[in-house]
Amino acid sequence: MNNKDAQALLTHIVARVQPLLSRGVLPKYIPQLTHVNQLQFGMAFITLDGQEAFVGDADVRFSIQSISKLFALMLALERVGDDLWSRVGREPSGRPFNELVQVDHEAGATRNPFVNAGALVVTDILCSCFAQPELALLQNLRLGARDERIDIDQGVMRSERGSCHRNAAIAHLLKSYGSIRNSVETVLDTYCRQCALAMTARQIARCVLPLAADDGLSVAGTRDSLKAAQRHSVVALMLTCGTYDAAGDFAARVGLPMKSGVGGGIVAVIPGVGSLCAWSPGLDESGNSIAAARAIEIFASHTGLSLLGAREWVRAAP
Ligand code: DON
Repeated sequence: MNNKDAQALLTHIVARVQPLLSRGVLPKYIPQLTHVNQLQFGMAFITLDGQEAFVGDADVRFSIQSISKLFALMLALERVGDDLWSRVGREPSGRPFNELVQVDHEAGATRNPFVNAGALVVTDILCSCFAQPELALLQNLRLGARDERIDIDQGVMRSERGSCHRNAAIAHLLKSYGSIRNSVETVLDTYCRQCALAMTARQIARCVLPLAADDGLSVAGTRDSLKAAQRHSVVALMLTCGTYDAAGDFAARVGLPMKSGVGGGIVAVIPGVGSLCAWSPGLDESGNSIAAARAIEIFASHTGLSLLGAREWVRAAP
C-alpha cells in the first residue's frame, strides 16, 4: 500500500469511528484521566520503509498506561534475556488485567507480562537492573521515536500513585510469595511512573516498529537489541494477551498482535509491514478503547494486512 492509499484509508476510518467517540467510559480509578476530552481520536501508520500516514489527533500526547508494559518487557528482555520467563509466564489469563485472586490461587506465579501482576514483576526486574528504570525506559523511547519531547506526566503519575490500592495489594501479595525482590514501594513508584509516560500515537508507532522487522531494525537505523526469537515471543504475547480477557475476541475480529492501555491507546504490529497506533479515550468493560479497536479492525479488514486477510463482511458493517 502506498502512502496516498494509506492516508485515504485513515481519513475514511476517522469518519467511520465518529459515532463511537462518545461511547465507553474513562478510568475512574486514575482520577486525572477522567479530565481528558473523550471526543479525541488519532491514528498513525508507519511502514518499515519509513512512510508515515497519520490522521486526527495523532500528534496529541496521551497517557500510555499499559502500553508501557510492552516497552518495559522489551527493556527487561534486553537486559536479562530468557531468564525473564522463569519469573513471568506466557499464558493468557482469561481474567481482567488487575486480577488479584489468580495471583493468590497460583501461589505468586504471574500469567504473563501484560496483566498488572506480571508487569509488576517485570518492573521489579528493571528495578534490579537500573538505579532509575523509568529514565532508562524514557531514553529508549526517545531514541526509538526520534523525539526528545517524550516525558512522564507528573499529574497522572501522582494521581495513580495516590490511589493504586489494587496494584499495591497485588504487589504485597507477590512480595509475600517472594515473587518480587525490591521493596513494594520502590516497585509501585517505578510502575506508576512508567504507566504515566505521555506519548503520541505517532511516537508509539515508531517505537514499536522494530517488532515488525525481521532484523529488528528501525527506520532510524537503531536496532532493538532483542534476539529474533525474543521479538517473536513479544509479538506472540501481544496477540494472545495484549488486550486481556478480550484477546481471543480481538484475535478473531482483528487478527493482529496488539497492546492496549486504559489511556485509550492501542498499538498493533503488522509483521513484515509496519506498525499502527490508534487512540481514543472511551473504554469498553475490558479496559480497551472502543474507537481505537474498531479503527484497527477496519484497517486490518480493508487492507487484508492481518492473520485473517481481507474481509468483505467488515467492510459492509456499519
Ligand atoms: O495499573 C493500572 O491499572 C494502570 N496503570 C494500567 C492499566 C491498563 O492500562 C490496562 N489496559 N488496558
